[in-house]
Amino acid sequence: MKIKNILIAAGPTRERIDPVRFISNYSTGTFGYAIAKEAKRRKLSVTLVSGPTSLKAPQGVKFIPVESSLDMRKAVLAEFPKTDCMIMTAAVADWRPRYPAKRKIKKKERRILELVENPDILAQIGARKKKRIVIGFALETENLGKTALKKLKNKNLDMIIANRLTKEANIFGDKKLDVVTIDKFGNRTRVFNKSKEELAKIILDKALRFELG
Ligand code: C5P
Repeated sequence: MKIKNILIAAGPTRERIDPVRFISNYSTGTFGYAIAKEAKRRKLSVTLVSGPTSLKAPQGVKFIPVESSLDMRKAVLAEFPKTDCMIMTAAVADWRPRYPAKRKIKKKERRILELVENPDILAQIGARKKKRIVIGFALETENLGKTALKKLKNKNLDMIIANRLTKEANIFGDKKLDVVTIDKFGNRTRVFNKSKEELAKIILDKALRFELG
């Protein structure tokens, strides 16, 4: 059976501290949006769940904007049963404030921010994927291949795309990247100096070759 529907989660999440402040990260959503656009060009039915970004949703995709990791998890879990393939590019914040304040916290209030770990959306999807294809990303500063392989296995993925974060290579936004893809069969492909649009094509070529089930 061929993949007809694809679910992509993209962008950062925002974890509320109080009504005017949040914890987040540098993700811009560029990669996930590029994959969504390319999938649409290939006539797939595309759902894009996205944290806050400054990008415009590609035309013709089902767009579900979310804010926090818990919102993203809810949307992804609701959409996942209807899809053949999920690509999780989102930079889910690892933690959220345990007690988000209902009112704006005053500058002078002494404050220690207590954090709790967020659920791993990808691992939860991997655990319930059945015949579906699930693809994740890994951003590492060391032991790129080894750590990515561990994540592929622990999160029950079909493929993982790993890239290295170094001081010289800021991977956020519109940058050219070196990545390594590792699939569940142990195949590794190194790809050098490619834009996120070019990588979107390479990743979808590989994703669409998987047999469902
Ligand atoms: O374990 P790590 O965060 O490095 O794994 C990265 C992969 O897991 C990415 O595909 C990311 O979107 C996903 N992830 C997730 N939920 C989290 C943390 C990461 O889905 N809470």
